[in-house]
Amino acid sequence: MEKKKFYITTPIYYPSAEFHIGHCYTTIIADAIARYKRLSGYDVFFQTGTDEHGQKIEKKAEEKGVSPIDYVNPIIENAKDLWSKLGISYDYFIRTTDEDHEKRVQEIFKIMYDKGDIYKGEYKGLYCTPCESFWTESQLDENGKCPDCHRDVHEVKEEAYFFRLSKYQDKLVEFYDKNPNFIQPISRKNEMLNNFIKPGLEDLCVSRTSFKWGIPVTFDDKHVIYVWIDALSNYITSLGYPDTNSELFKKYWPADLHLVGKEIVRFHTIIWPCMLMSLGLELPKQVFGHGWLIIDGGKISKSSGNYKDPREYINEYGVDAVRYFALREVPFGNDGNFSEDALIARTNADLVNTLGNLVNRTIAMSKKYFDSKVENPKVYEEIDDTLINYAKMLPSIVENKMNALKVNEALEDIFELLKRSNKYIDDTTPWVLAKDEQNSDRLKTVLYNLLESIRISAILLNAFIPNTSERIFKMLNTKNTSFDTLEFGNLETDITLNEAEILFNRIDTNK
Ligand code: MSP
Repeated sequence: MEKKKFYITTPIYYPSAEFHIGHCYTTIIADAIARYKRLSGYDVFFQTGTDEHGQKIEKKAEEKGVSPIDYVNPIIENAKDLWSKLGISYDYFIRTTDEDHEKRVQEIFKIMYDKGDIYKGEYKGLYCTPCESFWTESQLDENGKCPDCHRDVHEVKEEAYFFRLSKYQDKLVEFYDKNPNFIQPISRKNEMLNNFIKPGLEDLCVSRTSFKWGIPVTFDDKHVIYVWIDALSNYITSLGYPDTNSELFKKYWPADLHLVGKEIVRFHTIIWPCMLMSLGLELPKQVFGHGWLIIDGGKISKSSGNYKDPREYINEYGVDAVRYFALREVPFGNDGNFSEDALIARTNADLVNTLGNLVNRTIAMSKKYFDSKVENPKVYEEIDDTLINYAKMLPSIVENKMNALKVNEALEDIFELLKRSNKYIDDTTPWVLAKDEQNSDRLKTVLYNLLESIRISAILLNAFIPNTSERIFKMLNTKNTSFDTLEFGNLETDITLNEAEILFNRIDTNK
């Protein structure tokens, strides 16, 4: 049977400066979802990349005295190195400066123009350079500044091409009605409807003549294609579009999930669907707008100075501590605070105390009492039920949480099994059982139940903290590490465990 497909994307990030932990946040979550889907049998296409054109980058390059491409190249190399250190398992990395992308965006622009959906007009508006966004008077914040970044806007007037967004307003609302899960969380959908759609969609300026660092309009080359058409198209140009016969396009479009930060939900749920309707293409199945990681109440940004290279955290605490924090700390969809203290507290509480200790104690006891040999004589007692029943239910609990994109809750549920396992050790007191030879089969059963709970947790954790999960598999010396072996009782009984390794070292907070 052919596998079901799953196409998931992150935003393509601006390489205007080095990436920070906020970019990692989106990308780690997308990676965990992609890995989870792969493990559950989907044919996954996971895409990330960089959004390289625009006035802001042109300016930054100029300030540095280099060409825009020379400005972005090292940042992108660093980003790729960061993704590799974080274990980001992307299938494709798109750059908007890729020749294929540029050519295809020009074709997309022409298709929309030929259809009459793009026309030439004059743009008068208020422009925010850092955000590369135009605003109308009524959209500005209470101080007359950019509603997104609260910096100054300035008036500009120029000849420009426009996309007939207004034409698609009714169709868009109809699409929302028919696809109630299109925008998640639901609060973001209401925001789109009330703040942007109901007041009326205005046609959108889609070309600029005031800067050069962009993709030229083929039939009017003093214009470059303004960022959003260039950027949003990445999700289809990577698949070969406009060639709708391309294998990738036929297989993966429409996208199943565009994961984006809340500040760009508007572009993904209004402009992007309207562009796709203009092109006569299917719309993505879901856009999830997650919250921001903030530091001390403010947005992490390259400009506010609270930036630290995320590789420093990886070097200091390990890749899985960083991944775990990003996935576990913040209810997905909300804003959450990032601090090194919080990262340390999470690591010590969950990874060191709950997970690391359990694995270590259990493997050490197996070694001490039975020379690391695994056996299951099935001498059960009532107390086993709470552990075993939960372990049996866990895969479907996690599945439901992942389908609802409640990633932090899925992890919490997996850790509940680990906590129950620790409690099971306290309740069954293996060291007491070990005192009497007559209890040998009971003790073997207790250890088997623990090892089996660890194995099941490690399989489920593979999508989230893959390194740790692999290390546990190695210690267990088991071959049954795939999702189709999740059933309780699949740990082999003719194996010998490997030496216990310390999974996580306690982080000393006084240091
Ligand atoms: N280039 C556009 C996106 C185009 S997508 C067709 C862009 N780039 S960006 O570099 O500003 O990155 C935006 C994305 O990075 C956000 O949507 C979000 O997913 C992520 N984050 C950036 N800072 C973040 C935090 N502080 N916290 C969480 N996510 C953050 O917008």
